[in-house]
Amino acid sequence: MTYRIAPSILSADFARLGEEVGAVERAGADLIHFDVMDNHYVPNLTIGPLVCAAIRPHVKIPIDVHLMVKPVDRIVPDFAKAGANIISFHPEASDHVDRTIGLIRELGCKAGLVFNPATPLSYLDHTLEKLDLVLVMSVNPGFGGQQFIASALAKIAEVRRRIDRAEQTAGHPIWLEVDGGIKADNIAEIARAGADTFVAGSAIYGTKDYAATIANMRARLGAVIRAA
Ligand code: DX5
Ligand code: ZN
Repeated sequence: MTYRIAPSILSADFARLGEEVGAVERAGADLIHFDVMDNHYVPNLTIGPLVCAAIRPHVKIPIDVHLMVKPVDRIVPDFAKAGANIISFHPEASDHVDRTIGLIRELGCKAGLVFNPATPLSYLDHTLEKLDLVLVMSVNPGFGGQQFIASALAKIAEVRRRIDRAEQTAGHPIWLEVDGGIKADNIAEIARAGADTFVAGSAIYGTKDYAATIANMRARLGAVIRAA
């Protein structure tokens, strides 16, 4: 099992963002998780394509853009141009989910679909094989530093079962990412439920030694034996 750790820059020092993304890359991060909020789909306002383009030269690892915006399609090409590698969106925010997935992939990015705590997995019924990533939210989107919602674990397990079935026919890997309230203390049980990619904002950027925190998370992941 390949596990990936994706620090969310939502909890970084925005006044020193270039240094902050470089620092987590040096500390062993696999992806940069980039939270885009529009004060419309979610009650907070963050960063857009200009900031994505500005941090791009500071890191070699992929930029994992999490769009919490409505509408979605208008802004997707801007992020592709700004150097995003993965673009994920919420199905409730797009009137044409299949079209949005196609748009992201045509632009050469990996496409992800994001599930809020109360969003049903039925959105995967006609999309899963076209996706590169499924992102399960373990908090309601909008803010960093919230508590992990325990009911996400059963949902992650169900997504894992669906991905294991779909990956063969899809012909490409489908990642299972989880976002919200992840810390060294709960990362192993989230992995046991079936996740392979872990977003952590406050748990990494809220500590002094990013490398030690990421190493601690990896050590906990190293001890995971997944249920069959
Ligand atoms: C929440 C964002 C998350 C957030 C996670 O809406 O999508 O990526 O940064 O923050 P933590 O890890 O602090 O829960
Ligand atoms: Zn996020």
